[in-house]
Amino acid sequence: MAKILVIHYSQTGQLTAVLKAMCAPLEQAGVRVDQMPITPVTPYAFPWTRMRFFGVFPEAVNGDPVPLRAADPPGGPYDLIILGYTIWYLNPSIPINSFLKQAQGAALFQHTPVLTVIGARNMWVHAQQKVRARISALGGRPVGNIVAEDRSANMVSLVTIIRWMFWGRKDAFLFFPPAGIREADIAANARFAPIILDHLRTGDWQGFNERLLELGSARIKPALLILEKRALVLFGKYRSFILAKAERDPRSRDRRVAIFSIVLPIGAFILSPITVLSTFLLSLFKRRAIEREVGELLRY
Ligand SMILES: Cc1cc2nc3c(=O)[nH]c(=O)nc-3n(C[C@H](O)[C@H](O)[C@H](O)COP(=O)(O)O)c2cc1C
Repeated sequence: MAKILVIHYSQTGQLTAVLKAMCAPLEQAGVRVDQMPITPVTPYAFPWTRMRFFGVFPEAVNGDPVPLRAADPPGGPYDLIILGYTIWYLNPSIPINSFLKQAQGAALFQHTPVLTVIGARNMWVHAQQKVRARISALGGRPVGNIVAEDRSANMVSLVTIIRWMFWGRKDAFLFFPPAGIREADIAANARFAPIILDHLRTGDWQGFNERLLELGSARIKPALLILEKRALVLFGKYRSFILAKAERDPRSRDRRVAIFSIVLPIGAFILSPITVLSTFLLSLFKRRAIEREVGELLRY
């Protein structure tokens, strides 16, 4: 009987639902699916307060780990590890990043094929590059990536996610759709199970990601890719600003997080439409180069 280990962290349960939809047909087919949820010692409460949400920014961007509750995997070795993670500020969420920095990962991932599953709003490319490199450094073999994301337009999902994160409300309102990944898209992750089963049976992961891509496992929009790169440069600067005087005056951090909590949304809402237009035009001019880059990023 094939054995899979699912490692993941999900704050609201959205990513858990994605993984459940994907793994249910595998279990029905007789695959043993072990779970290893990642649990921070100090949980991240949901919904977030404004200061906590923006307060995790410096550590998320810098990849600083937090202590995790010890979790023993039910028993390897595994034929496949599914690593499910979400994105926090263009980086893997702090709990998952903390896990990937622990030595325990090295023993688990050694010589094991790893399928990453991302549950995010819409910006995950940089985080995936980091996670993929880390899996390889731990001795694992990244074999594919599946992205479940919010299909709404960037500005629309920005409004709905803020309402969801700060007030816990995911429902549709006014002319806005429900927040997060659509229910139908979550359920549709079951479509990947037959491909996973095929490769589990043979143990040969060659061509696995290409087959996933044929079913729409991951898509990179050129304009969002350019936007993400610009945001990454800015994020480094915002982080330095928040921490600039924190050592000498610990309260300065809170003051600066408060400023950042206003600057970031204003930047996103006022500047983003302008940036979207300029990045869209840039994506047209540099179409060839961007298409090549996107092809490279999606290749396994
Ligand atoms: C602090 C924070 C920052 C986030 N930043 C991003 C981001 O940069 N890009 C993105 O696509 N989604 C981002 N999200 C959305 C998450 O990736 C995820 O979709 C959402 O938190 C729900 O995941 P869950 O399964 O953990 O509940 C962020 C969420 C949080 C809480």
